[in-house]
Amino acid sequence: MALWGGRFTQAADKRFKDFNDSLRFDYRLAEQDIEGSIGWSKALVSVGVLTTQEQQQLEQALNELLIEVHSNPQGILQDDAEDIHSWVESKLIDKVGSLGKKLHTGRSRNDQVALDIKMWCKQRVIELQHSVRQLQRKLVHTAEHTQHAVMPGYTHLQRAQPITFAHWCMAYVEMLERDYSRLADAYARMNACPLGSGALAGTAYAIDREQLAQDLGFSFATRNSLDSVSDRDHIVELLSTAALSMAHLSRFAEDMIIFNSGESNFVELSDRVTSGSSLMPQKKNPDACELIRGKAGRVMGALTGMLMTLKGLPLAYNKDMQEDKEGIFDALDTWQDCVDMAALVLEGIQVNVERTREAALKGYSNATELADYLVAKGVPFRDSHHIVGETVVYAIKQHKALEALSVEEFKQFSDVVEEDVYAILSLQSCLDKRCAKGGVSPLRVAEAIAEAKQRLA
Ligand code: ARG
Repeated sequence: MALWGGRFTQAADKRFKDFNDSLRFDYRLAEQDIEGSIGWSKALVSVGVLTTQEQQQLEQALNELLIEVHSNPQGILQDDAEDIHSWVESKLIDKVGSLGKKLHTGRSRNDQVALDIKMWCKQRVIELQHSVRQLQRKLVHTAEHTQHAVMPGYTHLQRAQPITFAHWCMAYVEMLERDYSRLADAYARMNACPLGSGALAGTAYAIDREQLAQDLGFSFATRNSLDSVSDRDHIVELLSTAALSMAHLSRFAEDMIIFNSGESNFVELSDRVTSGSSLMPQKKNPDACELIRGKAGRVMGALTGMLMTLKGLPLAYNKDMQEDKEGIFDALDTWQDCVDMAALVLEGIQVNVERTREAALKGYSNATELADYLVAKGVPFRDSHHIVGETVVYAIKQHKALEALSVEEFKQFSDVVEEDVYAILSLQSCLDKRCAKGGVSPLRVAEAIAEAKQRLA
């Protein structure tokens, strides 16, 4: 029977019930609902609704139910309860009879669902932070072993200046660091307990909500009951953190796909994260990376969907808000899968060092060096930029790299060029010179790796 049967004389239409029920997805909140119920039962003792003995009986039955849920979470789906809150209550009544009917005193499903989803989000933040850290460690580990792998760095997908594979890895460590801290920020804000807000106006029982918040692992109780049952900011914040992190992961995936292409051939992905073609026997496709890139779209869609659902909703609770769950469940599952998959991709990666070096030597990515060389010899930068531009045009016509031109050839464009130009045109010199904080100089990269290792230990 539905929780609200008294007011109704007709049963719900089967089609409406299917449309309205949320058990098929909110069964994932069973653990939180049970823990919240135990917390609430203790609060009811403090206001004389339950005796200590009754509370103990309820707590014991709820703990039994928790064990059953843990052993078979999907078992819940067999039931035709409306949602997880009615399911827990009806199972409790099955176990302890009438006493179970006292638990909902002073509580509403509105503050209950607000609590459950917040507790679920808090737990998920910890798990996600763990996955993000693991991926960062993998990136740092990869960086450690690829400090010597010089490759072209790109802007506009044109070879720009030489970098190292290690420096590329460390760029993603930084993005993930910001994702990690966004999770921490969101966690701090969601750490306010809404239980005890009733349906919207507060509970009519004088419970100590700060005590209740502490019992349920929150830092404090929310301040306004109307806001407490209407607030889904934590869901939006997590979706936004997930969406932005997926933007990072999809750039990682796209870089990998390019590096792994036949044209670049900078890296070889492991057989463990690639798949073959049913027709073309030679193919080894970067499916793991393509899926990471592709799944970014659906996580970003979940963020937009949630914002649209909340936009213009009148206070306080509206059934629209039941739509929060499938989006956040799917988005956070997807994000976590992608973070874990990115770590797996890195695990088996082979960097083709000869090939990356060869590519770095081509494409005139040391042209800036030549310009700086002329500047050091007294040529104003704007003029030197122009001179080097002309020199590059000449070198392209000759099918030569800059360092393959003779001093006489250089002198056609600027007579300040001497033998010492060759040392500064080397890849090593290009890297070494970029030694200001955050630059690609091998010394700075080694420092960055050491610092990150310590921070992530
Ligand atoms: N299944 C509902 C949800 O997820 C629980 C809250 C129901 N509250 C109500 N007033 N109908 O939002």
